[in-house]
Amino acid sequence: SLLKTATNVADFAAAARRRLPRVVWDYLDGGAEDETTLRDNRAGFERLKIMPRVLTGNAKRDQSVELFGTRFASPFMIGPTGLNGLFWPDADLALARAAASADVGFALSTASNNSLEEVAATGPGTRWFQLYPWGDAAFSARLLERAKRSGYSAVIVTIDTLTAGKRERDLRNGFSHELRITPRVVLDGLAHPAWLRSVWLGRGMPRFENLAEFLPPGASASQLADFTRSQRNPSFAWEDIERLKRTWEGPLLVKGILASADAVSALEAGADGVVVSNHGGRQLDGVPATIDALPDVVAAIGGRGRVLVDGGLRRGSDIVKAVALGADAVLLGRSTLYGLAAAGQAGATRVLAILRDEVDRTLALAGARSLVDLQQMQIVSSPPSQL
Ligand code: FNR
Repeated sequence: SLLKTATNVADFAAAARRRLPRVVWDYLDGGAEDETTLRDNRAGFERLKIMPRVLTGNAKRDQSVELFGTRFASPFMIGPTGLNGLFWPDADLALARAAASADVGFALSTASNNSLEEVAATGPGTRWFQLYPWGDAAFSARLLERAKRSGYSAVIVTIDTLTAGKRERDLRNGFSHELRITPRVVLDGLAHPAWLRSVWLGRGMPRFENLAEFLPPGASASQLADFTRSQRNPSFAWEDIERLKRTWEGPLLVKGILASADAVSALEAGADGVVVSNHGGRQLDGVPATIDALPDVVAAIGGRGRVLVDGGLRRGSDIVKAVALGADAVLLGRSTLYGLAAAGQAGATRVLAILRDEVDRTLALAGARSLVDLQQMQIVSSPPSQL
């Protein structure tokens, strides 16, 4: 079976592509406009080289990392993605369980299909909540209150989506926050019966469950999608980050930072860290690859906050390169979604195990014992700045 034969993330991507209807695959895999940033995130890692050190006595290695008082087994966690229910029934529960079983963190999107309370009820595990700054102050205060009550230990505020990116695959497919039942989608579904049976016929169209309480009871998936589209707030500002920090009180990260000056603004607004991210190439096309933007952000933060990065991490060696350039940890977007879409919780779990093994093997071959080692050895040189 796939779980036995898949040796890397790319194998799961290929299997996910076979299982999903085209419209769903395009939503998962696509980027904005010409997808140059989507490709560049990968190219950035491929350009970077590791200069290995030998005979360093690193027979035993430790890839664990501490973030906001919690120790995780690996320097990666499952990042926030919306509409996971299109890939697998109860996908947010599956991802939360996969993360907990690998002893890594899980970030739940505002746009999840299982509610934050349901995800919290999956059992032990460290969970963070990703807030889209939609609607007014009362809207976010209510979501943060629910997250706090359900034991989420940190909040990630995503600020790179105040305006929707131009995702042309989705535009061509007529896809926007929901899968509308058109003749083409029906044919697409019939051509992918495993998906059709489990997702569509199994659970029905996934709804934005976190938002259901803001509409009258019994709101449909389509009404909830309408609601999300109506809630964008393009005038969200740094003062609003200050307000969210006061409301939340706990650790808060700002996700979607590329410019080092914005990283400083995030700290000044009270953030405890940033996520260097271009939303996986799904928002502004033509921005730098995140791995290229990382070193300047790390320098600007200067140890005053935590720095996470995401975008194009598909290999343990990518994760090692990000940490070597100063990231505390990375978020996984599509990597674990490929596993999920191919084989549910078991697929996501397998992707996490593959990455953990690859990180360990890369540390071994590069001559590092730990993540701290990695940063001190300077075995990855930052690329000449093209920014
Ligand atoms: C995302 N991303 C995202 N980010 C966020 O803060 N909230 C969200 O709801 C979503 N939704 C979402 C859906 C899908 C299908 C994808 C692929 C991505 C962005 C995500 O958190 C992350 O920044 C990127 O996915 C990282 O790039 P890679 O690893 O996918 O290349």
